[in-house]
Amino acid sequence: MNVLLIGGTGLISTGIVKALLARGATVTVFNRGRTDDRLGPAVRRLQGDRNDFAAFESAVAATGPWDVVIDMICFRPDQAESDVRAFAGRCGHFIFCSTVCTYGNTQTILPTVETTPQNPHSAYGRDKVACEKIFLRAHADGKMPVTLFRPSHTYGPGGGVINNLGWEPTFVDRLRRGLPIIVSGDGHGLWQSAFSEDVGVGFAFAAGRARCFGEAYNIVGGETVTWDDYTRRTAAAIGAPAPRIVHIPTDLLLALDRPRFAALEEIFRFHGVYANTKLMRDVPEYRAATPYEEGVRRTVAWMDAHQKVVSADTDPWEDRLVERWERFAAETAQALAPRG
Ligand SMILES: NC(=O)c1ccc[n+]([C@@H]2O[C@H](COP(=O)([O-])OP(=O)(O)OC[C@H]3O[C@@H](n4cnc5c(N)ncnc54)[C@H](OP(=O)(O)O)[C@@H]3O)[C@@H](O)[C@H]2O)c1
Repeated sequence: MNVLLIGGTGLISTGIVKALLARGATVTVFNRGRTDDRLGPAVRRLQGDRNDFAAFESAVAATGPWDVVIDMICFRPDQAESDVRAFAGRCGHFIFCSTVCTYGNTQTILPTVETTPQNPHSAYGRDKVACEKIFLRAHADGKMPVTLFRPSHTYGPGGGVINNLGWEPTFVDRLRRGLPIIVSGDGHGLWQSAFSEDVGVGFAFAAGRARCFGEAYNIVGGETVTWDDYTRRTAAAIGAPAPRIVHIPTDLLLALDRPRFAALEEIFRFHGVYANTKLMRDVPEYRAATPYEEGVRRTVAWMDAHQKVVSADTDPWEDRLVERWERFAAETAQALAPRG
């Protein structure tokens, strides 16, 4: 099986390449050659920018045809249209990496399944839906068999460790130093995290599988945890002290600094619970096999080795907020206490 990945060296892509090689596929990656490349010598590299559409389309046309193309970095309709020009009639199976943000996360029935209506409330989610439609039209028109993958949160070496507020780069350092950790709301929001190498297996074993043509699949972690549990388990996994979690209402956080908490507003304030059932029916090789504790230890080891752990001293805002919030709570309790 002759497979081309657009992207290839990033977080999810690296897991896909590893699983494809284990399947015996011949793998080519197309990227700019900027991201740290952990793929090894068996992989063929094509260098270029996918946004230079003319050069991209002629480069992949000159090197194809492909049994399978997996586009990991298509975010906009013009990129999707470029893919259709490049690969229609030149690939046996096209896999588009979309996202669960296409659903919009406002559902009241959990878990979200692939037929749940898509109502994205971020530009990212809306653009991914527009791309999905372009690819599904190409599939319906017989230009190329298409499969959509919708990952939820995926983590692993090559990336960071998120917290409930988003991609706070100081999270690991705060945990290690026992500094307070803000969790929005009451900490009972639900979340799933998938390890990148497990997700890679799902993509790799869907490749070329006729049963997956024309279908969309959620691809998510196997466990559902509360944000409080997520925070406690992350701390324990990396040998940090039990965290002092401070709950602050989501609406207050957004009122204080909306741009800072954009990810909280768009994603993390909603339950992120998606069903893997359809994927496990059609791609039974997929397993959320890596325990969270092992996955996060490997991720933080990679972060340490690449100096990606950012000191909490660089961002005193969180400590100032916690201090003011706790003072407000104490003063309010005192003011409202029944007078004897
Ligand atoms: N991680 C998550 O939690 C998550 C959740 C839902 C959906 N997703 C989806 O997963 C996909 C991305 O996965 P990822 O974040 O793990 O990234 P990735 O695909 O693993 O890494 C990005 C890759 O794209 C290459 N690249 C970036 N810009 C390029 C350009 N203009 N031309 C050519 N190559 C380029 C990078 O190499 P160079 O820098 O060397 O070019 C790198 O190989 C996205 O479609 C995203 O929507 C991710």
